[in-house]
Amino acid sequence: MEGGMGPSPILELGEHTLPLHPRAVFGRDLSLEVEIGSGKGRFLLEWAAAHPEVGIVAVERARKYLLLAAQRAARRGLDNVRLVHTTAEDLLFRCLAPASVAAVHVYFPDPWPKKRHRKRRFFRPENVSRVAEVLRPGGLLRVKTDHADYAAVIGELLAAEPRLENADEEEVFAQVPATHFEIKYAREQRQVFRFAQRRGVSP
Ligand SMILES: C[S@@+](CC[C@H](N)C(=O)[O-])C[C@H]1O[C@@H](n2cnc3c(N)ncnc32)[C@H](O)[C@@H]1O
Repeated sequence: MEGGMGPSPILELGEHTLPLHPRAVFGRDLSLEVEIGSGKGRFLLEWAAAHPEVGIVAVERARKYLLLAAQRAARRGLDNVRLVHTTAEDLLFRCLAPASVAAVHVYFPDPWPKKRHRKRRFFRPENVSRVAEVLRPGGLLRVKTDHADYAAVIGELLAAEPRLENADEEEVFAQVPATHFEIKYAREQRQVFRFAQRRGVSP
């Protein structure tokens, strides 16, 4: 990373004891949040800047985007952001402890519209179940997509997960900054579907 920047926010999983713990990752007890597929990092950086009490771990499998977001985080001196170059599934299933995460953000996950590619979608029963498991009681899942068919599938999967309850969408999204894709879609006047879910207190 270039001179004059803060320390690299890239988290090398091989250098950490798993599951990840905020004190080990951030050097202090921050409230752990996760972003799945952070892209170029617009939401990530705005959110981290507005919430110094939060430590946010973003997973992005495209190295080019991960490096771009990492450079921007370093340039802004954000010390509560970490970027992990792996898959969402690896982060969720191997790196996070049950009931350890205060919020999971999934914005504009790839819709994989072709039928033969649908199994690649992030929203499938085992991933939804694991998201519910890593959320702590009262923790939030926020999702946005512009894809109507995928939104219908996401709605069904979330409704079928007994540990997740509907949360007040207006309230939950009130202060959430737009992502890169969202800004692009707003220009195209595309409809955006939002889901706000809360992990219930019962197991
Ligand atoms: C459509 S883009 C949305 C990016 C960003 N959230 C936004 O709204 O601007 C989806 C992003 O998720 C990443 N991605 C897709 N599947 C992933 C997976 N299984 N694990 C990690 N990242 C993934 C892609 O590389 C891409 O950057």
